Amino acid sequence: MTGWLVTGAGGMLGRDVVDVLGGLGEDVTGLLRGDLDVTDESAVRALVLRARPAVVVNCAAWTAVDDAEAREDEAFAVNGRGAENVAAACAASGSRLVHVSTDYVFGGDGLAPYAEYDGTAPRTAYGRTKLAGEQAVLRLLPETGYVVRTAWLYGAHGPNFVRAMTGLEGRQPFVDVVADQRGQPSWTADVADQIVALARATPQAGIYHATSSGEATWYELAVEVFRLLGADPARVRATTSAAFPRPAPRPAYSVLGHDRHAAAGLEPIGDWRTALSRAWPVLAAAAGAHEPRSRAAWARQSA
Ligand SMILES: NC(=O)c1ccc[n+]([C@@H]2O[C@H](COP(=O)([O-])OP(=O)(O)OC[C@H]3O[C@@H](n4cnc5c(N)ncnc54)[C@H](OP(=O)(O)O)[C@@H]3O)[C@@H](O)[C@H]2O)c1
Repeated sequence: MTGWLVTGAGGMLGRDVVDVLGGLGEDVTGLLRGDLDVTDESAVRALVLRARPAVVVNCAAWTAVDDAEAREDEAFAVNGRGAENVAAACAASGSRLVHVSTDYVFGGDGLAPYAEYDGTAPRTAYGRTKLAGEQAVLRLLPETGYVVRTAWLYGAHGPNFVRAMTGLEGRQPFVDVVADQRGQPSWTADVADQIVALARATPQAGIYHATSSGEATWYELAVEVFRLLGADPARVRATTSAAFPRPAPRPAYSVLGHDRHAAAGLEPIGDWRTALSRAWPVLAAAAGAHEPRSRAAWARQSA
């Protein structure tokens, strides 16, 4: 058995996982939703048994957190049943599985970083469906299944908070950003590196956390984005979650611990600010978000 299959390969994380594997010279097949719909049990089984990959990385997911509140069945079909379909196919083929999950499986009211096996208590439909996916993977692949939880992703290939702030900086004199939610901004390329390193190292199966270290509020992240753009950080104003009511409540505290990663001898991602600085040239190239454009946009706004 050789090679890697990546599901959800058109998504923000999936694209970086395929890129990392390609850069390492691995034999990788990225599957878009049109190539493989993970909700189609027989198609998943047939494809995995035919390809017999050494590793499957499941990046396919329903990620519309707010929409999931009114459409939990549809989200469950992808995040719960879809993950189960992929895990069952891997059990049949003997492939290892890295399944990507989320901080939203926790209650979000902690005071210290959540450890990998801390109790889960999802507060949203999205979180419930992702937890169901985790449980299926751990049940069906007790020796060869890895659940990798990540959080607060930004990257070159999808809509995300860093890109949104970059756009708003060029369009608005001030931006109001919530300062009462804490997490770990994490670059998809770093998370992709962690996923690949984990699957290659084959430590004990189970749950791992792949996020930057340190912690930040969305407000602090926006301030850092403005600083990197060469814009005045005072244009970012702190506000509270109450100012932005949403169908799915956002966790106040979503910081994840990395003890199992360290115990496996794997390199940590490191501090979130350093990671954002490393990511910046890649993000800027992808979004055209470079300093002169930003300054010019701001000058036009102020005129
Ligand atoms: N973004 C974050 O901040 C964040 C935080 C924590 C955890 N995560 C987790 O990280 C993983 C990757 O997220 P992401 O940000 O890369 O999300 P994304 O950009 O929305 O990518 C998800 C991909 O899954 C595909 N997909 C949806 N339904 C599918 C189906 N039935 N069969 C096959 N593919 C399907 C989507 O295709 P279409 O585009 O065609 O719909 C999309 O390409 C997910 O497991 C997510 O739960 C993300």
